[in-house]
Amino acid sequence: MYKNTLLIIILFLTATFAGADDLVTCSEIVPMRNRYDKISITDFGGVGDGKTVNTKAFREAIYRIEHLGRIGGSLLYIPPGVYLTERFNLTSHMTLYLASGAVIKATQDTSTWPLADPLPSYGRGRERAGGRYMSFILGDGVQDVIITGENGTIDGQGDIWWNLWRKRTLQYTRPHLIEFMNSEDIIISNVILKNSPFWNVHPVYCSNVVVRYVTILAPPDSPNTDGVDPDSSSNVCIEDMYISNGDDMIAIKSGWDEYGLAFGRRSSDITIRRITGSSPFAGIAIGSEMSGGVENVLAEHINLFNMGVGIHLKTNIGRGGYIRNITLSNVYIENARKGIKIAGDVGDHPDDKFDPKALPVIRDIKMKSIWGEKILQPGLVKGIKNAPFINICLSDINLNGPYKARTRPWECSDVKGSSLKVSPWPCSELIGSLDGTCFTHM
Ligand SMILES: *[C@@H]1O[C@H](CO)[C@@H](O)[C@H](O)[C@H]1NC(C)=O
Ligand SMILES: *[C@@H]1O[C@H](CO)[C@@H](O)[C@H](O)[C@H]1NC(C)=O
Repeated sequence: MYKNTLLIIILFLTATFAGADDLVTCSEIVPMRNRYDKISITDFGGVGDGKTVNTKAFREAIYRIEHLGRIGGSLLYIPPGVYLTERFNLTSHMTLYLASGAVIKATQDTSTWPLADPLPSYGRGRERAGGRYMSFILGDGVQDVIITGENGTIDGQGDIWWNLWRKRTLQYTRPHLIEFMNSEDIIISNVILKNSPFWNVHPVYCSNVVVRYVTILAPPDSPNTDGVDPDSSSNVCIEDMYISNGDDMIAIKSGWDEYGLAFGRRSSDITIRRITGSSPFAGIAIGSEMSGGVENVLAEHINLFNMGVGIHLKTNIGRGGYIRNITLSNVYIENARKGIKIAGDVGDHPDDKFDPKALPVIRDIKMKSIWGEKILQPGLVKGIKNAPFINICLSDINLNGPYKARTRPWECSDVKGSSLKVSPWPCSELIGSLDGTCFTHM
């Protein structure tokens, strides 16, 4: 009797903790903190007239935060107004607070924009060989940094950069709007990010990063304006976002071919929830740079409309690495070229030194409760010869047409998986045998 009661209690506790695990909220990863020391950009000569270049004010204010080192950190207040500035660096223990109506606007002086070394996990700039333009707002090796406020705007004025890219006259890779490198305990919340020159938010080699209540806007034809790209980073939480941009809304990455393999830093423990938006590319993407590995990702309650691809897992030969233990659930997709795409032939290589024998491992991918309307092709799953994608588990999936003429709704090769309640009926490779591994934890 006593033994049984004990067993029941143990089972109950185990179940409770397993359940609690799924319910990690962003605020548990990095709690919001209050700063007692507050300064305003206007104390440092900042002028929000949209014309004055405020680089000196930003640098001096942040220098003051860094060197006075107030206990509990400092808050830098940006009042309503348009503050034009060149790029600047953040420091540890600071909050950048944008009031309602505050705009931090990047200058467009591409000729004097400073350069940074390439990331070691990429070996070169992502779009051009050599270095890359330093990110507009950068935190390098910082901790406890918050960018927040009352939904003020950070405007990258990216059109000049997009045009350089379109004309093929760019010499180096374009700058990100916000980047954190080698940093931890970061929050970006309640801001609007507009017209980024390249990717909007790029946490790389970071841990404990929260991005929530952020609106990201860029025209659908703006090149490479990815929303949030966690890269070789762990414990990342992205929630309650609206994104309308010109490339993947969220893309999890971890380095590029032989450089990413040598650097060997994975992206893991990433939660994405309540994301709404629209893009000509993917809603939720993993890759194509994933050489350091990507694992333990949960994406749920995602609403996508007017999309290229709803969910896109992408890799290539030469990448090595892995994508595993990924769960996507409760995704609604309206009007898309493709609902689900998992492909092993996507994305280019940094150079011709990649190892063609470095084959990525894609396995243990669960997708459940995915609904779609006006989906031209529900599924395209194209594994790699000699490295098939395995244990792809689909359940409760309804992707309705009208479908593209003369195309099979599901096209598959080099993949193994199982399906439960999937409509339209998927390819035979994904019907498989219900060996129990797919559906035990769904
Ligand atoms: C900003 O940080 C980068 C990376 O640490 C550094 O190379 C650069 O010199 C810093 N820029 C300024 C103006 O301090
Ligand atoms: C800012 O925008 C978010 C949505 O991203 C909204 O939930 C919040 O109420 C807004 N805050 C203010 C102060 O307007």
